[in-house]
Formats: sequence, C-alpha cells, structure tokens
Amino acid sequence: MPSSFRFDPNASPVASTDRAERMIDPGFGRVFTDHMAVIRFSDADGWHDPHVTARAPLQIDPASSVLHYAQEIFEGLKAYRLEDGGTALFRPDANARRFQDSARRLAMPELPENLFIESIERLVDADRDWIPGGEGALYLRPFMFASEVFLGVKPAAEYLYMVIASSVGAYWKGGMRPITVWVSREHTRAAAGGTGAAKCGGNYAASLIAQKAAIAEGCDQVVFLDAIDRRWVEELGGMNLFFVLDDGTLVTPPLTGTILPGITRDSLITLARADGLTVREEPYAIDQWRADAQSGRLVEAFACGTAAVVTPVGNVKDAEGDFAIGGGGTGQITQRLHQALNAIQRGTAPDPHNWLHRL
Ligand code: PLP
Ligand code: COI
Repeated sequence: MPSSFRFDPNASPVASTDRAERMIDPGFGRVFTDHMAVIRFSDADGWHDPHVTARAPLQIDPASSVLHYAQEIFEGLKAYRLEDGGTALFRPDANARRFQDSARRLAMPELPENLFIESIERLVDADRDWIPGGEGALYLRPFMFASEVFLGVKPAAEYLYMVIASSVGAYWKGGMRPITVWVSREHTRAAAGGTGAAKCGGNYAASLIAQKAAIAEGCDQVVFLDAIDRRWVEELGGMNLFFVLDDGTLVTPPLTGTILPGITRDSLITLARADGLTVREEPYAIDQWRADAQSGRLVEAFACGTAAVVTPVGNVKDAEGDFAIGGGGTGQITQRLHQALNAIQRGTAPDPHNWLHRL
C-alpha cells in the first residue's frame, strides 16, 4: 500500500491550559492525547485508509468477532523528549517485528514495519505537545482487533489497527521504589505451544485473577511459574525478571515460547554485556531464588518493561516461604543498568546501538 496517511481536519485539540492541567502528575495510562491513528484491513482490500483523526469512542457491532473470540494484539513503546530538544521513539522497529510475530500467532494479518512506524510518527507529530518533560514520556499503544461481524470461529476477514497515546509519569505510585511480588502457585500464565510469547489481550485477561490475588496479599505484582513443573520462574504479569548473583552474573529466564520477549530485557542484556557483565539466559527455580536470597548468593533482582522501565524487586511473598532480596533495597547493578538505559532513551548518553528513532 502506498503510505499516504490523511489527516482529518475535524480533529480539534483540547485547550493548552486543559492539557497542562492533565499532564500534572499523569500516572500511567489515564491521560490520553487528542488524536489516534487508524488503518483498516480486509481480505478484499488489504491494508487501506490510513489516517490520523480525533480520538473518539468507537462504534462497533455487538457481533464483532473480537468481542467473542478475543482476536486482539497490542504493543507498548514510548516517545521521549531528548536533552537536545528533539524527540525520539525507542526501538520502534523491534516493536513492529514483535507486532508481526503476535499477529502470526493469532492468525491475523501482519502490518508492514514501515506502516507500523509511520502510524506512530504521524500520531506523535499531531500530539507532540502531550509529550511530558522530566521523567515522563508519551506511551504509545498500537493495537489491532478482529472487526468482522460474524460469529463463526475462524480468523476474521476484517481488522482495525489503531494507535492511541497517553502522557505518562511513573508507572508505580510513589515513583521508583523496590516492589513486593507474590508467587502464584495456583494459576499459570502460559504453557508451551500457547500464546505466552505473543502480546495478546487474552494473556492479560487470563493473568488478572493472579494479579488480583497479589494485590489482595498486599503485593505489587504477580510472579508466574512455568505451567508444567510449577517450579521455573517465568515473568511478572507485565514485566520480565532478572536476578543478580554475588559475582556480578545476571540470570534471566530464557525465551522458550512461554514468556514475552521484552525489548527492555533485550536492551538490558546488551547493555550489561557491553559493561563487562556475564548474562546467562537460563531457567531459574523459585526454590533456588529463595535459597540464593537467604544465603546471600543472590544480591539483587529487578523487573523490566517499557511501562515500568527497571524496577527493583525487594521482597517475595510465597506460600512456601517469604524472603527479602539484598535487604529489600535497590541494588547497585539494578541502579547502574537503569541509569544506562534511561540515559540512552533521553539522549543524555551516546546511542551506540542506534536504538533511538528520531522524529
Ligand atoms: N512481559 C510482559 C507480560 C509484558 O506485558 C511486558 C510489557 O510489555 C514485558 C514483559 C516487557 O516487555 P517490553 O520490555 O518490550 O515492554
Ligand atoms: C508495557 O510495559 O508496555 C506493558 O505493556 C506492560 C503493561 C502496561 C501491560
């Protein structure tokens, strides 16, 4: 498809005073911008009608197949204000590829990488004033769902791809602090052959009962174990995990198809190795985690993802025995990696891997 996004002139932005008000302490995912990007797909016409328009509620038929069979995928990435006054996306090509991988797994059409990136560029261009400065960023949420009006169980013949944007501050209330996680012994997130590696809404729907239990236990996030042995640590509800041993080695669960291949995870592996650290992608058992934390062999653990960036894990609550990690604070390697990543994302350090996509 030729890339020719049209801009809907009826999209009237909110007044700048209203915008400024909403951007004070926006938290995560509650403050939305003025516009949205849209591309339609049908088996008959392929990708068509790319445009940016006013953000508005959708009218969809109650028989739209997404409402029944959950054929839906999404992505999450950020646009940052750089120190030199410019703006940039962080590794949007990696999100574009993961969006294609998710689409393939959910039997959906694959959006070409250039259209994925252009849809985001056009939206950020229209909503540039919504990018917060300081610690904030513009969180971009591309997503696609089956819009065909049909109740048969089959891949839909029509889809709607959209991008919305949200001004965000810190993901966690109260800013960066060590979080407490709760180990889900009853529910798992994904099994081999399932959709664990895809970023589809259904994975999150299935995880919510465990996340709810974690909150009820006074914790911030749920830790999922593998579905077969109920032993291997996989990831949190919305973040990947790293473990730091006392010799400076980092361990992170391998990408065997049941966890999300995080772009933050991949970036941190690259940064840690460039910093001379050893990173091992290998299975790590919950009992090992507890024993290592108690013996002092494990000195730090942290979670990572686009929304929460790098977040230390201070305490683990588990039916088989609670434990604290490194005294429950923020470890040195966690802090160092967080700073290194943040400096590249905000343009205050060189970008040797060409991760920034300037807008
Ligand atoms: N794991 C899950 C389940 C997630 O939802 C996310 C967030 O996107 C991640 C890991 C981290 O992925 P990324 O670093 O690409 O944001
Ligand atoms: C992200 O980090 O982008 C996520 O998608 C995590 C969560 C908000 C689902």
